[in-house]
Amino acid sequence: MKALLDTVTSETMKELEKTQKEFWNISPKTGVLINTFIKMMNIQSVLEIGTSNGYSGLWITKALKQTGGRLTTIEYYDKRQRIAYENFKKCGVLDIVRFLQGDASSIISSLSSDEIFDFVFIDANKSEYVKYFELIKPHLTDKALIVADNITSHPEKVQTFIDAVDLDKDFQYEIVDVPGGILIAYKG
Ligand SMILES: C[S@@+](CC[C@H](N)C(=O)[O-])C[C@H]1O[C@@H](n2cnc3c(N)ncnc32)[C@H](O)[C@@H]1O
Repeated sequence: MKALLDTVTSETMKELEKTQKEFWNISPKTGVLINTFIKMMNIQSVLEIGTSNGYSGLWITKALKQTGGRLTTIEYYDKRQRIAYENFKKCGVLDIVRFLQGDASSIISSLSSDEIFDFVFIDANKSEYVKYFELIKPHLTDKALIVADNITSHPEKVQTFIDAVDLDKDFQYEIVDVPGGILIAYKG
């Protein structure tokens, strides 16, 4: 069963890579990186901001199936969320995914204080990255990692976010030159 689901997942991801631009998906290189971080750090609880059709979510859930963790993923548009639902279902990971639909800032603001994440993947409205960063801070574990996409592809829109991470003494960060560019921030 596992081997079959692995094959279905690989085939689904290859298929989704054909419409990468239409759904604004991360690059496969970024997917490999976030998948590796989750496994290496034995991440248990991931928050994804920006589900789209579930492509990055498949990289995340593939790793979480190994660690025994769970994904909470936020998407504004119900049509995209429905497509993601079908992709997760096809790949046998629905049992570890919680879908939240609506505006990410409002949803994060309304999370209860005991909702804690050890990995946050930011990939929604670029101009609001700084807001997401401030809002997720109370929900991070001490070892939490934040990865944000489109750092070099949308430099003007994400500059306030980079500045906020840079100024925050609790965090260290690196920018990695994969397609689109990612910022990796961690407490340290
Ligand atoms: C770049 S795409 C996400 C791609 C996805 N992470 C992947 O790589 O497969 C950004 C997604 O965020 C959603 N989005 C944009 N602004 C949002 C907001 N304010 N709240 C929630 N979702 C939002 C968009 O509808 C879009 O589907």
